[in-house]
Order: sequence, then C-alpha cells, then structure tokens
Amino acid sequence: GLVNTKELFAKAIKGGYAIPAYNFNNMEQMQAILQACVETQSPVILQVSKGAREYANQTLLRYMAQGAVQYAKEISPDGKGIPIVLHLDHGPDFETCKSCIDNGFSSVMIDGSHLPYEENIKETRRVVEYAHQFGVTVEGELGVLAGVEDDVKAESHTYTQPEEVEDFVKRTGVDSLAIAIGTSHGAFKFKPGENPKIRLDILAEIEKRIPGFPIVLHGSSSVPQDLVKIINENGGKLKDAIGIGEDQLRAAAKSAVCKINIDSDGRLAMTAAIRKVFNEKPAEFDPRKYLGPARTALKELYKRKNIEVLGSAGHA
Ligand code: G3H
Ligand code: 13P
Ligand code: NA
Ligand code: ZN
Repeated sequence: GLVNTKELFAKAIKGGYAIPAYNFNNMEQMQAILQACVETQSPVILQVSKGAREYANQTLLRYMAQGAVQYAKEISPDGKGIPIVLHLDHGPDFETCKSCIDNGFSSVMIDGSHLPYEENIKETRRVVEYAHQFGVTVEGELGVLAGVEDDVKAESHTYTQPEEVEDFVKRTGVDSLAIAIGTSHGAFKFKPGENPKIRLDILAEIEKRIPGFPIVLHGSSSVPQDLVKIINENGGKLKDAIGIGEDQLRAAAKSAVCKINIDSDGRLAMTAAIRKVFNEKPAEFDPRKYLGPARTALKELYKRKNIEVLGSAGHA
C-alpha cells in the first residue's frame, strides 16, 4: 500500500538526497511520474493540491494513487514496485487535512504559513494530533514564499527565521518543515537582472537549530530554458520565465532537505510537447496523439531530475 514519509525521510537525510514530490492532476501525469520513478528506482511523493482536488476530484485522485501502487509493480522488471506516498499539498485548514486523512492519504501538509505564529502552531498541532492516530505524517510551514500560494498571493517573501524553527517543531510535533529561503511557486521566480539565488546560508542556520530534522523545499522548479524556447517557438508566449538553478537544488538535496516540490517544470514539459504536435501536425485530433508525447516528455524530465538534481535514483 501507500507509505508515509517517516522512513523515506530518515533514509534520504542519511543518504544525502531528496525525495521528489511531484504534483498530479490527471492520469497522464500520474503515469509519467510512476514510469520515471520506477525506471530510476526512486521513491516518490505524489502530491495533490487544492486546485487538483477541485479539478479532478479528491476521490478519483486517491484511487488513482492507490492504483499506482499496483501499477508500479506491473511496470517494474522485478515486480517489486517502489515506495509511494500520497500527500496533500498546501492543506489550507484542519477540515481539508482531516478529509484527506480519513480518505486514504498517507501524508498531509497543513500550510499555516500565512497565519500569525501562535495560530500557525495551534492549527498545525491540531492536524498532527489527528493525523498521528492514523499513522499519517504531517508537513508544516514557517516563512512565506513569494508568488502565488494557491489563492494567497504573497507580494514578497518572508524568509523563515532560524530562531523560530526549534520551538515550532517541538510544539507542533510535525514530521517535516517547509521553509522559505528564496524559492517561490510558478514559472516566474525572478525578474530579469535579479540575482536568482536561494539562501543556502539560512538553510545552514536552520539545520544548526534542528539537526537531522526533515526540511522541505517548495517552489523548486528550474524553468528549463530549452522548454521555454520550444513553447515560444510553437506559438506560446512566455516572457522572462526564470527558475531556481539546478546546481543550487543539488546542493540543498545533500543537506537535511529531503523533499523537493516540483510542478511548474512538468507543466512546461507537457505544454512544450503538446504545442509542438499542434504546430507540426495540425491534422491530429486524437487526444492520445498529443497527451502521449506530453506524457513521454514529462517522464524524461522527471527521470533526469531524479538522477541529476535530487539524487533519489537508486534509493527505492
Ligand atoms: O503549490 C503550487 C502547486 O504547483 C500546485 O498548483 O494549486 O495550481 O494545483 P495548483
Ligand atoms: P514550482 O511551482 O516551483 O514547481 O513549485 C511547486 C510546489 O511547491 C508545489 O507545492
Ligand atoms: Na537531503
Ligand atoms: Zn508549494
């Protein structure tokens, strides 16, 4: 069945790599993620956002993820499959987390990062107390990412304050902590001319305060420029799309960062493939003729991420 994050994170920290957390909203994304992770022998966190629940229905996504456990076995040469977590991404409140915990998710995030500190602790603690009764792991967040976090748009980020993390982790009982060190959601993370660096120095400070505690990085797409180019050459209009350098994520993965969230890069890979089909073969109208190439492009991208960026390949 699905597993929680406990053992996966412990192994990742010891091994100096990060587990990929890839968002999915439909069958093709789920298949691409599973194929990539089986072929690279990587554990995987399948994550479902609020937007995904609204788009695809929580129940359908849950059964798709449960089906993925069997699917991974079927496509594994040794028949063993890989560890799979079904995780709620950016849970907005206790009720949403409870609904996911009650309905088969093995991990949830309660995102109280927009709340005042004490309220964040209170809401997070409430989710932890409920989740742990059922063996479900919980991710909390301290600090605010720039960009769009679901409906909440943060104009500027507030980096996580290292002085707060020990208290937060102790009082909430969370299993992992998402931090803000300059990553952000979406494909436009930096303005042209800005220094596109994340604050690895703050990460190091945080690690000193909570040694060996699992850290999560959201907003970790790199916005590959070859994909942006294909999109723009085939009728797209993405101007100044900039992401986090993969070298910085590789460095972070070697630390206590053991979960790295990637969604936007996958969206770019699928869009590039679909635009190419539409542009080069305008007579095609069978969805499999463009969703198929999109699925292949997504799989290839995520295989490369597992091998070259996260270092999770071979750790299933
Ligand atoms: O947190 C952001 C993820 O990329 C999910 O995005 O809310 O549009 O599904 P979404
Ligand atoms: P990106 O938009 O950088 O892919 O971040 C995804 C994310 O953090 C999902 O929670
Ligand atoms: Na790590
Ligand atoms: Zn996120």
